[in-house]
Amino acid sequence: MGLRVAQTGFAVLVLLQCCSAYKLVCYYTNWSQYRKGDGSCFPDAIDHSLCTHVIYSFANISNNEIDIYEWNDVTLYGMLNALKNRNPNLKTLLSIGGWNFGSERFSRIASNTQRLRTFIKSVPPFLRAHGFDGLDLAWLAPGRRNKQLHATLIQEMKAEFAKEAQAGAERLLLSAAVSAGKVDIDSGYDIARISQHLDFISTMTYDFHGAWSGTTGHHSPLFRGREDASSYRFSNTDYAVGYMLKRGAPANKLVMSIPIFGRSFTLSSSETGVGAPISGPGIPGRFTNEKGFLAYYEICEFLRGASVHRILGQLVPYATKGNQWVGYDDQESVRNKVQYLKNRQLAGAMVWALDLDDFRGSFCGQNLRFPLINAIKDALAAA
Ligand SMILES: *[C@@H]1O[C@H](CO)[C@@H](O)[C@H](O)[C@H]1NC(C)=O
Ligand SMILES: *[C@@H]1O[C@H](CO)[C@@H](O)[C@H](O)[C@H]1NC(C)=O
Repeated sequence: MGLRVAQTGFAVLVLLQCCSAYKLVCYYTNWSQYRKGDGSCFPDAIDHSLCTHVIYSFANISNNEIDIYEWNDVTLYGMLNALKNRNPNLKTLLSIGGWNFGSERFSRIASNTQRLRTFIKSVPPFLRAHGFDGLDLAWLAPGRRNKQLHATLIQEMKAEFAKEAQAGAERLLLSAAVSAGKVDIDSGYDIARISQHLDFISTMTYDFHGAWSGTTGHHSPLFRGREDASSYRFSNTDYAVGYMLKRGAPANKLVMSIPIFGRSFTLSSSETGVGAPISGPGIPGRFTNEKGFLAYYEICEFLRGASVHRILGQLVPYATKGNQWVGYDDQESVRNKVQYLKNRQLAGAMVWALDLDDFRGSFCGQNLRFPLINAIKDALAAA
């Protein structure tokens, strides 16, 4: 009796400590260190208890082997992995790929047996040497020609990780980030095949709408909007998640993204609603310095004196000030998104990116570091 109680108590304790049921996968970007002043973010600014997984983006490939990108990557790898001293349950992964990396370089490696072997063999020693627990593959929009090469790369990498673990170390984790557009999924990803070999798979449910669309619109709506023409019927989180499940991603491996940034536009008329005409992307943020893009902490600044609206049915906000329009996520929209992913029994949430939240706690006026990611964490933990 006493023992049973003690055991139950122990089991409850282990459950509480070990793993909140949901994953919170957080990317950190190597280029955030170069932002000016308060925008500059190094891995030691990351709250060690915030995420279940932190992914460092990106590594390079040179001479067909995994390699560092930035001159000081090794120092930053060390800072990141030092977070595990204070949170032993935290897992860290190193990501390869991204939009700038391009598909061709992956294709060259995956299409040749020798090069593929060289690449795959180089990964475990590199990850171990720098203290990572796994690899994240961000081969975006591989296209029809590379669809099976993408899957083969994942399958072979997983086999190598399994083999490497026979020596006694915990097996390295393998994840993938995939584009959320229906066309990209159809042409480039064998979802059912890759899911078998992955520990988790992140659908990048953002960037559905941008200056290329020609009018204002939210880049990461939860649902289809009333203004969305039929060509935009796939451009929302709900559709992308449903489609991934339909294509064979198991819900318990599927991670849904929540962006910690907004997409902005410059209005070209007095219309300020959804679907209003634009002259182009919004003006660059003070720190991120990229047209049409604002970090959450820059949005906090923008909101002073702006007018905020919620898009009915899409469950996300936008704000306008002067001729600027930005669609973004806030505490309320992330709670709705977390509720949605729980209803669908997904594996958890992914955020892009840690360095775009108010990581100093000095922009958003809440006296709290990482207010938006903390809102996601709290919503995931809520009963
Ligand atoms: C960070 O990594 C990316 C790889 O995606 C690379 O293109 C970039 O040059 C690196 N550094 C900076 C400062 O952007
Ligand atoms: C990344 O790898 C490519 C191919 O080897 C190389 O040309 C490039 O210089 C590397 N980039 C950095 C920043 O090391």
